[in-house]
Amino acid sequence: MPISYHSSSKTFHLYNSHISYIMMVLPNGHLGHLYFGKALHDRESFEHLLELRNRSMAVCTFEGDLSFSLEHLLQEYPCFGSGDMREPAFDISMDNGSHISDFRYASHIIKEGKPPLPDLPHTFVDHDHQAYTLEITLKDTIMHTTMILSYTLFEQLPIITRHVCFKHEGNSPITLHKAMSLNLDLPDSHYELVELTGAWARERHVKVRPLEHGITAFGSKRGHSSSNFNPFMMLKRPHTTEISGEAIGISFVYSGNFLAQVEVDTYDVSRISIGIHPQNFSWTLEKNDSFTTPEAILAYSDQGLNHLSQQFHTLFLNHLSPKKWRNRPAPILVNNWEGTYFDFNEERIIDMAKTAKSLGIELFVLDDGWFGHRDDDTTSLGDWYPYLKKLPHGLKSLACKIKALGLDFGLWIEPEMISKDSDLYRRHPEMMLHTPQRHDSHGRNQYILDFSNPLVVDTIYHMLENTFKDVPIDYIKWDMNRSMSEVYSTALPAHQQGQVMHRYILGVYHLYERLIQRFPHILFESCSSGGARFDPGMFYYAPQAWTSDDTDAIERLKIQYGTSFAYPIRFMGSHVSASPNHQLHRFTPLKTRGDVAYFGTFGYELDVNQLSDEEKTIVIQQIEWMKEHRSLIQYGTFYRLSSPFEQDTCAWMVVSKDQNDAIVGYYRPLNKINSAYTRLPLLGLDPDKLYGINQTYHYGDELMHYGLITSDESSGLCEHEDPSYDYYSKIYVLKAKSLI
Ligand code: GLA
Repeated sequence: MPISYHSSSKTFHLYNSHISYIMMVLPNGHLGHLYFGKALHDRESFEHLLELRNRSMAVCTFEGDLSFSLEHLLQEYPCFGSGDMREPAFDISMDNGSHISDFRYASHIIKEGKPPLPDLPHTFVDHDHQAYTLEITLKDTIMHTTMILSYTLFEQLPIITRHVCFKHEGNSPITLHKAMSLNLDLPDSHYELVELTGAWARERHVKVRPLEHGITAFGSKRGHSSSNFNPFMMLKRPHTTEISGEAIGISFVYSGNFLAQVEVDTYDVSRISIGIHPQNFSWTLEKNDSFTTPEAILAYSDQGLNHLSQQFHTLFLNHLSPKKWRNRPAPILVNNWEGTYFDFNEERIIDMAKTAKSLGIELFVLDDGWFGHRDDDTTSLGDWYPYLKKLPHGLKSLACKIKALGLDFGLWIEPEMISKDSDLYRRHPEMMLHTPQRHDSHGRNQYILDFSNPLVVDTIYHMLENTFKDVPIDYIKWDMNRSMSEVYSTALPAHQQGQVMHRYILGVYHLYERLIQRFPHILFESCSSGGARFDPGMFYYAPQAWTSDDTDAIERLKIQYGTSFAYPIRFMGSHVSASPNHQLHRFTPLKTRGDVAYFGTFGYELDVNQLSDEEKTIVIQQIEWMKEHRSLIQYGTFYRLSSPFEQDTCAWMVVSKDQNDAIVGYYRPLNKINSAYTRLPLLGLDPDKLYGINQTYHYGDELMHYGLITSDESSGLCEHEDPSYDYYSKIYVLKAKSLI
């Protein structure tokens, strides 16, 4: 059992061949943290790691003892107000107004496997022996409340998942004001924080900042995880690179408001936490009520950031996203949004689908504008039945015609939204999330349904079920296009208004569950104005997400590169769009647009009937190429090679598990004159294998240590099949010699 409890020292040790995580019951009964990092030998006691030291002016727990102070100890799940002056992991008030608590160790259970989290997305195992779970029960006997800290260690991965459950047994209610999913106290602060920040159309740019005394924090109070900050962070040592050094990764399996923060106290101890954002959150527990936090993920690497990212990729592909789609490459699709926007009818769609089929495309996705009377973004959200002016024979007829061409059929929906100009609003204005007597702010001319109310979720479910039940739908793009404002549910009493934002997300998850159960064959892609809900919560239901509304190939380099810090290639919706690009108005070669979009789900986001014959020939070749290589790209091991945030080139590669095949994507946005000799050291190859690249052969060691020669034409070293221009890209396919 890779989780041991040493009763003589009251020490817990979770360990596998990669990591150790050590805690102990402190003399006051609370849980103290001792170590997280590279695997250590197990031993009966780690008590010597607990440093008790007299410090002047500290608030101390035991009378006559100046050494035991919560202020100066590493804590597992710290409380408020009993001597620890740092940020608490939770905050509970009692009926008498007190926020003081005292949760002491009561018992624990160690078991094989990983129990599911009720009503919340979570990682899972296929077989019990893939993971081990420790549940530690702590009790506050004055409050009559139990707290269960759950830890699951994945046997083969340097990963521990965590969540917390509060159960109240007292007669007087208590209120949770803060309940983080994870707290991790580290003994020093020699770290840099890596975060993925951005905005609409420039999501998940990599930002690195050193930790300082005080709090470094980011999060979302928007109701969705957001394009501004992602629920993910890495803490790396200053010298850690992509290929070496220590780093810790933290991710949050949740799609709503979150807070991620690191507090460094003036003794250089770092306290990391992630969980539901406490702003606008409060949850009252009456007798026998319980509250379970969402799941947080903790990962470790001593082999650099690429290795850390790969651990998340493996976890997410094998233990988070729906099993049904595991190892199934994404279908190559065309989406009509940038091709037509709202301006389409059945005839135009069928014409596009015919051409799409002739190019080799597999799935046709009809985007926004097919329902209600939607000709622009001001109307019809909530009216999920076909717009007969555009689709006079209905949705089923269109879908059947597309299926008859040999294509799968996909559809866009935005089920959480309502337009004031909609039948739904006219019938049920109360279903809109709004604060009585207050002004309603809009976003993109639309308003939000009160998904915290199960009746609203049920209404939308039945409307969608009714529309979909006879239509052969293979794919759904589920969008969510605005941040929340004036959040209040008229269905809940005053003292439950702090629950609305969390209940909303639970409503979203519930609708996903119901639709997946009712239509198990449908592949879901999540979307939120592009990538504003690109989080593990969504990937539990939808194995792919629209990465960004920005389809410009050069901008996408940064977006996809940053996204890869946490998420696998298979999750990233990436399409070739028209040139000039609709967001940047930039002209880029069709080849480059394809070379970037290959590293994702791949598809087209344009009117295929506007392509010239020459472009169609290229598109046919791109699709053939992607069909041949997509399994490797989407399920191989992904390495970042050259950062567009730090260099004037970008490069990445994927390697097959057996190291026989690899594909490198190399991108040089701006042309250079009389430039230097450049080489691109590859990663992850077998040093002893001879790899063929365009008729030349190189050992893996040469490719990794000397590198691929990427100097431009003027150096005379590079075999050139493409002219040298701005927005240049090149794909290298490597095959081990015995296979050629
Ligand atoms: C959002 C999505 C786009 C498209 C539009 C339709 O912006 O990100 O891909 O579906 O909505 O309105």
